[in-house]
Amino acid sequence: MTTLEPALTFDFREAIHENRLKGIWKMMVDYRLPYLAATAALAVSALAKTFMYLLLRYFVDDVLTQGEYIGNITQTFLWIALGFVGLAAFEGGFSFLSGRLAAYTAEGITRRLRDFLFDHIQRLSFSYHATTPTGDLIERVTSDVDALRRFFSEQGIGMGRIVLLFVINFIAILNLNVKLGLISVIVIPFMLLVSLWFFKKVTKRYENYQAQEAVLSTTLQENLTGVRVVKAFGRQEYEKSKFEKDNWNKYLKGKLLLFMHSLFWPLSDIVLGLQMLFGFVYAATMAINGEITVGMYIAYVGLVVWLIWPIRNLGRIIVSASTGMVSYGRLMEIVKQAREPLFDGKVQPQGPVKGELTFEKVSFIYSDGEKNVLKDVSFTVRPGQSIALLGSTGSGKSSLVNLLPRFHEYTSGRILLDGVELTDYSRAYLRKQIGIVEQEPFLFSRSIRENITYGVGRDVSQEEVERAAKAAAVHEVIMGFPDGYNTLVGEKGVTLSGGQKQRVTIARTLLKNPRILILDDS
Ligand SMILES: Nc1ncnc2c1ncn2[C@@H]1O[C@H](COP(=O)(O)OP(=O)(O)OP(=O)(O)O)[C@@H](O)[C@H]1O
Ligand SMILES: [Mg+2]
Repeated sequence: MTTLEPALTFDFREAIHENRLKGIWKMMVDYRLPYLAATAALAVSALAKTFMYLLLRYFVDDVLTQGEYIGNITQTFLWIALGFVGLAAFEGGFSFLSGRLAAYTAEGITRRLRDFLFDHIQRLSFSYHATTPTGDLIERVTSDVDALRRFFSEQGIGMGRIVLLFVINFIAILNLNVKLGLISVIVIPFMLLVSLWFFKKVTKRYENYQAQEAVLSTTLQENLTGVRVVKAFGRQEYEKSKFEKDNWNKYLKGKLLLFMHSLFWPLSDIVLGLQMLFGFVYAATMAINGEITVGMYIAYVGLVVWLIWPIRNLGRIIVSASTGMVSYGRLMEIVKQAREPLFDGKVQPQGPVKGELTFEKVSFIYSDGEKNVLKDVSFTVRPGQSIALLGSTGSGKSSLVNLLPRFHEYTSGRILLDGVELTDYSRAYLRKQIGIVEQEPFLFSRSIRENITYGVGRDVSQEEVERAAKAAAVHEVIMGFPDGYNTLVGEKGVTLSGGQKQRVTIARTLLKNPRILILDDS
């Protein structure tokens, strides 16, 4: 890998900023130079175009009208033809280069962003995941990242291009005739104000639109996950109408958003069309009065298009750039979330725990709940002892065991492990010492072997895997599959029964050989 390659990872928490444009600029670390180069290449390309019109003026005024030749007439024509071809090649070449660099930037930044988000999201707390709909997160990581990609590849570079085109052509027209230059830009301040007004409106409406899209993808995602329940209860019609309602809302919000766009475009076209027409007529009268030459008039007519065109597009880009801004904001809402500190702990024990566990008047309320799930719970478990917690459904058994690996923090009282308060251990250490078979078994769509060896953190022999599977009473079942331990689980492979799944998760936990083993309902 060359040293020119930008860093493969970037901590996007450094790109959190109140001002969304500044935040987006901060995201561009390592890519600013190529991006500026992309803009500069566009400038060269624009400059080439402008020179074509100036060459045209020279051709009409000096060659055709005045009869000034470079050498003889053939040579002059040859030189001028060469000039046009050369400028066209310049224009095309640099425009291509600019497109390449902009795409490189856009794809590069968003690739890093996706990687970061994936990693960041899996490091957020249990309570964050319990309260955030999966569909919403998927929506942000896909659709919002894509809006940012478009911002970099289209709107960002577009803005640079437009400003450059405007400046270059404005100077070129001023150079032809100052008065002509000034009368060509009268409507610009007005256009800018209108664009900004639309920008604000569109931003608001796009925010609503994206939020509704998240609702829709949550509905979809939940329906897919719970499709068995839907079928079993014959609720297809109900789910269909619920989806249609959400989709209808999205349609309405989309319509409101598009209305703003469709209002803005013709409006700006009319205003700028009038401005252009006014310029043509004014310049024509100047030419008739002899204030400017015919060649100047021709060049002006060509150039003014390249003055008005950028302004027209600037408005459009300002309006559509709001999508990138909104998406930046929506992504930063995830990025801002604090990660679960895995390694923080006052004590850093080297060896394994003995396993003496003491609960002293432990109370617990979920961070998003109000009522005490556990209240003044006290008991002691000695190393080697097995205990069973019994209680009616919802009495807090799962909540209690989930306190041990610090999935959640208890609200008051103390839990001591080997005489040290639980909160003094790092989460990483506790999770290594404690094996927990969750109440709802979850297997990845990978092979059974990969599922059993998941998270062991060392090479394990086939014997060890089989021993764990035998202990969990699932070895025979696995051997019954054609591919044995290499059988794929889930959509692309076999579907395990509920009990089989649970046994595989037990084997997975047993293989870890934890000092404290927790079986929640298994
Ligand atoms: N993530 C959460 N956020 C808020 N409240 C929760 C959360 N998980 C569970 N609860 C609430 O905490 C209470 C205890 O739930 P818990 O899952 O611990 O019960 P349980 O004893 O394991 O029940 P079961 O025997 O059905 O598994 C319930 O009232 C439940 O509504
Ligand atoms: Mg439970």
